[in-house]
Amino acid sequence: MQVIPLLLYTILLFVYSSASPASRTAVLDDDEDAYLTVPELITKYGYPVEEHHVTTSDGYILTLHRIPHGKNSDTVSDKVVFLQHGLLCSSADWVLTGTTHGLGYILADEGYDVWMGNGRGNHQSRNHTSLDPDKDSEFWQFSWHEIGAIDVPTMIDYVLEVTGQTSLYHIGHSQGTTTFYVMTSMRPEYNAKVKAHFSLAPIAFMNHMTSPLMHILAFWSGPLDLLTELIGINEFLPNNEFMAMAGDALCGDGDITQALCTNALFAICGFSPEEMNATILPVLTGHTPAGASVNQVMHYAQEINSGAFRQFDFGLENLDKYGALTPPAYDLSLITTPIYLLYSHNDWMAGEEDVLRLCDGLGNACAAKYLVSDDSFNHLDYLYGIRAPEIVYNKVISLMAGH
Ligand SMILES: *[C@@H]1O[C@H](CO)[C@@H](O)[C@H](O)[C@H]1NC(C)=O
Ligand SMILES: *[C@@H]1O[C@H](CO)[C@@H](O)[C@H](O)[C@H]1NC(C)=O
Repeated sequence: MQVIPLLLYTILLFVYSSASPASRTAVLDDDEDAYLTVPELITKYGYPVEEHHVTTSDGYILTLHRIPHGKNSDTVSDKVVFLQHGLLCSSADWVLTGTTHGLGYILADEGYDVWMGNGRGNHQSRNHTSLDPDKDSEFWQFSWHEIGAIDVPTMIDYVLEVTGQTSLYHIGHSQGTTTFYVMTSMRPEYNAKVKAHFSLAPIAFMNHMTSPLMHILAFWSGPLDLLTELIGINEFLPNNEFMAMAGDALCGDGDITQALCTNALFAICGFSPEEMNATILPVLTGHTPAGASVNQVMHYAQEINSGAFRQFDFGLENLDKYGALTPPAYDLSLITTPIYLLYSHNDWMAGEEDVLRLCDGLGNACAAKYLVSDDSFNHLDYLYGIRAPEIVYNKVISLMAGH
């Protein structure tokens, strides 16, 4: 591993985060899908779509996308499923692989009313009743704690109200699983609103993750924290021109490798070229990475260092915030929703030991855990992998039928 270049890369990743979104022309060519909004994409591929907005108690305006039914039906089912994306992702990631591979479409065709959430701060939910994300650093003072404790419950309540249901299915990927554990431990009354939760690449404990970039980031998180604070960087939005430059220096040859290695999301999470469908690269690059706060990334770095699944570490301010020197741990024993964990061996972020420890901590709520049969399957293949429908989504759909 080239430590020095990787370190520079990590620091620059942060410093360049402050730059405005740059042109993403390198792999976009003129693929129309890269520039379409989520509703435009879904409409283009012949599915019904709705966009909804909901405001949180602290003023964040969140966007939800809904595919109310599939192609073979024109009635809305009373089986409601809520999908929550991971770090640097958005509702787009459930549909951008197309109608044969996108979990959003597949669930709609299976007879579900599909709702796709967006946490505060990503491109879809970059809005607030009084704060301006471009000017007010206060807008960015959150991590995935707030997404789990405030945004996801707000969106779930909204979905239940619109659909007239009392409970729904919840599927999360990566940070979308973290936010589920945060919600059900911080606000246990939400356990009853979820029939069953499916964790694709579960993330709670992180001290066995193997991502080289995250390791470097965790190791240098103290100085990086100081640096980002000094220069006033709050939004984690890697600049694509810089990524392309870094990619030339660090990445292997080949179009797919270059395209993925220069995407911050893949640089952090890893990728397997054999699971990647080159056709979707332009639309993927057009929608991902979808933005996050620096503190979302920092909160994960803290987990890598502490080995604990606990609230954000504010350092000296912990006493003020929590009345203790260390942040309180999320109490997994308060989680009672049946949870299914799907994990894999080649996942840089969700290490097997960490997933097994999570299952132990969940006790009876850990309904079952499934090791994905493909050993090359990695963290992002749950979203984009060519074989995801065959080896992951089919499993989830058959488990959902049992609840
Ligand atoms: C690649 O993606 C395209 C567009 O969604 C799709 O038509 C094609 O079937 C996919 N190929 C594979 C091997 O999954
Ligand atoms: C932000 O929300 C306000 C109030 O609902 C709305 O008028 C405005 O169009 C939104 N801005 C963006 C960029 O979505």
